[in-house]
Amino acid sequence: MELRACFLRRILGVGVVPQDRKRNAVRLGPTRVDKLRRGLHTHKTRGRGGMLALALKCVRVPALKTARLDLEPITVGHAAEAWPHLDDPRMWTFFPKLRPKSLEELRTLYTRWENPYHAKSEVRENWACREREHRQMVGTMQATTFPARAISYIAYGIFVAYQRQGYAREAVAAVLHHLDKNLLSRRIYAEMDVRNEASFRLVESLGFKRVKERHAVDRQQGVDSDEYVYELVL
Ligand SMILES: CC(C)(COP(=O)(O)OP(=O)(O)OC[C@H]1O[C@@H](n2cnc3c(N)ncnc32)[C@H](O)[C@@H]1OP(=O)(O)O)[C@@H](O)C(=O)NCCC(=O)NCCS
Repeated sequence: MELRACFLRRILGVGVVPQDRKRNAVRLGPTRVDKLRRGLHTHKTRGRGGMLALALKCVRVPALKTARLDLEPITVGHAAEAWPHLDDPRMWTFFPKLRPKSLEELRTLYTRWENPYHAKSEVRENWACREREHRQMVGTMQATTFPARAISYIAYGIFVAYQRQGYAREAVAAVLHHLDKNLLSRRIYAEMDVRNEASFRLVESLGFKRVKERHAVDRQQGVDSDEYVYELVL
């Protein structure tokens, strides 16, 4: 998977490889994950990432809660609810070519996202954010974790009707807590187009520091765009 790709690609659009559903999975706590990570050093045949990814295949994406939101592990059932919000060019200002063309395309994407283990050595978790009082879906969150390196990449989208109400900050904070406590990530990264002020101000408000600027990393309809990389050290 391309680490340099803007993470919105993963949360709203393309670049995701096929996956199988994993039912009847069991959630592992941090202690177990920690043991697995330490145990990697004794399993040389499969390599560190491969071994841990194998072990983590029985970890389920947990539901998360914030003061106002329920973060539900994403399923294909969320697609119809999300579609009217994602079928809006304002959600794609910096990534127009990644916009799903139809509800069917979104359903296919969310079906793949139901399983967080479709990529080798990675855990990809996706959540639908639901406002608890009115039960409206307000956006989506994503975390891609590389357990053997103890790093994660985050991605986020809050639908236009619900922006500037603090939902992204609240939901991202919950995801960061989960990555720290349950997946034991030590560094979290966020990447965004340099023109996406809402995105970089959001992560700055959560303590991320800008560590890199990449030039001409993403060709969008023939136009090069620059990208910031932000890091949070836990
Ligand atoms: C980026 C995004 C997720 C922010 O969601 P949000 O729920 O509106 O953000 P919040 O209300 O939690 O804002 C938290 C902080 O981020 C910053 N921020 C958010 N939107 C901003 C904007 N339009 N301009 C400048 N700063 C902004 C502010 O510092 C804000 O704190 P404040 O309201 O106290 O000033 C949302 O704009 C979005 O989904 N955009 C489209 C998809 C996208 O570009 N995703 C990021 C991919 S790289």
